[in-house]
Amino acid sequence: MSLAKNNKIVSTDELSKLKDKSLFCSKAFVNGKWVDAASGKTFKVSDPATLEDFGSVADMDASDTRKAIDAACKAFQTWKDTITKERAQVLRKWYNLIIDNKDDLARILTLEGGKAYAEAVAEIEYGASFIEWFAEEAKRTYGDFVPSPIKNSRFIVWKQPIGVAGIVTPYNFPNAMITRKVGAALAAGCTVVVRPAHETPYSALALCELAQRAGIPPGVINVVSCSSEHTSEVGGELTQNPTIRKVSFTGSTSVGKMLMEQASSTMKKVSFELGGNAPFIVFDDADLQTAAEQLIECKFRHSGQTCVCANRVYVHETVYDEFVDKFVPLVKQKLHIGHGLDEGTTFGPIITERGLEKLEDHLKRSKEAGAKVIFGGKRPSLKVTGQFFEPTVLVDVSYDIPMSCEETFSPLCPIYKFSDTQEMLKKANDVTVGLAGYFFSRDIGRIFQVAEALEVGLVGINTGDIDSEIIPFGGVKESGVGREGSRYGIDEYLNLKTVKIDF
Ligand code: SIN
Repeated sequence: MSLAKNNKIVSTDELSKLKDKSLFCSKAFVNGKWVDAASGKTFKVSDPATLEDFGSVADMDASDTRKAIDAACKAFQTWKDTITKERAQVLRKWYNLIIDNKDDLARILTLEGGKAYAEAVAEIEYGASFIEWFAEEAKRTYGDFVPSPIKNSRFIVWKQPIGVAGIVTPYNFPNAMITRKVGAALAAGCTVVVRPAHETPYSALALCELAQRAGIPPGVINVVSCSSEHTSEVGGELTQNPTIRKVSFTGSTSVGKMLMEQASSTMKKVSFELGGNAPFIVFDDADLQTAAEQLIECKFRHSGQTCVCANRVYVHETVYDEFVDKFVPLVKQKLHIGHGLDEGTTFGPIITERGLEKLEDHLKRSKEAGAKVIFGGKRPSLKVTGQFFEPTVLVDVSYDIPMSCEETFSPLCPIYKFSDTQEMLKKANDVTVGLAGYFFSRDIGRIFQVAEALEVGLVGINTGDIDSEIIPFGGVKESGVGREGSRYGIDEYLNLKTVKIDF
């Protein structure tokens, strides 16, 4: 790790560098209009790298949310009947506009979310890929004509849009977690009300501006921005209002459980992408250089703040020292800490203060349990005063450290030593969640055995990066229900209807 090139304070002047300043929208977006909260309240948004406020956004509450739901309900009556080709064309236009404006969208994303600029551009492209994908899938929501077991009867199954969807998204992917859900919803013929995280509303609102330019009709997409003060009442409205027929959420397991309970009151369809605790396993026959390089990406992407980041690294005892010797110099060489808009930064801040506190608690408890810090381990001294923490590598770790059972969502990288594969797999699966898992081996028999044994929804073999719009993304156990992206993602927004015809 080193300091990024200039180690300078990047300030709100960055906003003046937007090529299209109308993408920086501070009002909520309801029924195709930019609106204030009825109360007139706003809330401040700050840059996690400087802790400087750079804007204020409409602070919507439950009554504002009801208006957005009504608008979405009205728009649904016509959007559901648009032909799929029309939906595909308008989504394709939205995709093109997102790509054309990716530099500005990435700049906004870095300012509010702290992500290093190159990574922010990658998120915009990843986010756009879901709109492109679902523009194509809109045309493929086939049903069935079921061969009849009864002479003068015929059976048809068709798919219909579920209705208005309530979408609740996190701060770590302020663009892509919206497009992955909204792309599928709109392609299916649903309309949406989105509540973005209060830390990162601007990315959501910029997407609305482009959606409007693409010709997505009023009321089809609505965004209700709100402060932390109104987060639970707006979320409560989205999960309990009877007009909403579907809730999609990405975030922590604890919040997911609460939202699921709320949504059960009106029996809504739900898809939840929740916390993970990914094992990253290096077997004795692995290509150690590849494994070390992939761990940089898999562990330190967005400073460790993704649900699919490696949380526990298991390395076979015979290659443990060699692996650590390859990995640590790479951490030093590849991770440059600084403001995301500072040239050369590859490692930004922790987005929330509570995230930083949790990290420090995990580190303290790990050290108390005997873990040794061999790299990092403290807040860096920088000119910027934000929520930074060094990428931190821990060895000599025992199973008593918090990461053995808890997602750290931070740049702490504990490396466990294992000797017995079955024992290690038991530990790898001995968690309440199961989102992603990774392993490195060249033995074909082992590859199948371990891929089958890992209790997760996503497995990366000889890679630490599995993200793509083409795969069904989601977990097992307490990592959630449902799948996003891929040809399965659109089904989350469709109901099956069975039709029997007698003649
Ligand atoms: C996350 O939800 O944190 C990960 C999302 C992704 O990698 O697509």
